[in-house]
Amino acid sequence: MIFYFSGTGNSLWAAEKLSISLNEELISISDAIKDNNYEYTLADDEMIGFVFPIYAWDAPKFVIDFIDKLKLKNCNANYTFAVSTCEANVGLTIKNLSKTLEYKCLKLNSGFSLLMPSNYNILYITKSENSIDSILDMAEQKLEEISTIIKKREDKIEVVLGQFAFLKTKLVNPLFIKYGLNTKKFFANEACVSCGLCERICPTNNIKLEGKPIWGSNCTQCLGCINRCPKQAIQYGKNSKDKPRYYNPRCK
Ligand SMILES: Cc1cc2nc3c(=O)[nH]c(=O)nc-3n(C[C@H](O)[C@H](O)[C@H](O)COP(=O)(O)O)c2cc1C
Ligand code: SF4
Ligand code: SF4
Repeated sequence: MIFYFSGTGNSLWAAEKLSISLNEELISISDAIKDNNYEYTLADDEMIGFVFPIYAWDAPKFVIDFIDKLKLKNCNANYTFAVSTCEANVGLTIKNLSKTLEYKCLKLNSGFSLLMPSNYNILYITKSENSIDSILDMAEQKLEEISTIIKKREDKIEVVLGQFAFLKTKLVNPLFIKYGLNTKKFFANEACVSCGLCERICPTNNIKLEGKPIWGSNCTQCLGCINRCPKQAIQYGKNSKDKPRYYNPRCK
């Protein structure tokens, strides 16, 4: 059973590949939350996986809140793994997740960071298509290695912590949670054709279409809305103007 969360397709693509190679069922965390579905029964000795993006050097709060509420039946020393997709490094994410899982009586056996193209185009320029392609080629190779480790049920942590990991996860992440999740800067410009895609894909039901989209206050900053709008009508203040949008091009 693999639980995944993804705003712009990277983690979905990785989770799908693992689901196929490990022959494990894929469960969308955002659908589960929307359906208020937190109870799952595991087959004997079934694996449990979590695949998600990194936001400010930790797992999205959205994912941690889901894990806090998760109830797994027939859970008996099952093998558990986590893959965190990132553009550079993940800080203490896997260590934190391991502690969160301990409270659920789960041991995190293996944890990986997986380098992927950046979706954080609010601040940075997304890489050119060529480099996106080569990053995804490398990720594909890494996913095969990860899958081999998981199939053998090895205990292994392979993560790029990055510099000042402690400060980033323990200091910067709480600031991001406190100040970085606000939606005041989101707006849709005159290019919006009211197609409703942004409303449909928002994992937290935070967008209501009233002609144009209106943002509420329950945002996890997945950046799905701004990246996936087919008309590139969504902006984030002045930061996102003329910046390329990103959705994993290999994601079905
Ligand atoms: C709000 C936000 C914060 C991010 N913070 C980090 C970070 O701390 N470290 C990093 O390497 N990548 C960071 N990223 C990049 C994403 O983790 C990365 O592109 C990820 O693969 C996106 O996954 P998705 O397409 O499944 O949503 C951040 C992205 C967003 C939107
Ligand atoms: S996805 Fe874009 S075009 Fe469609 S309703 Fe949202 S802002 Fe408008
Ligand atoms: S409002 Fe946009 S950025 Fe925020 S959670 Fe919804 S889709 Fe993601």
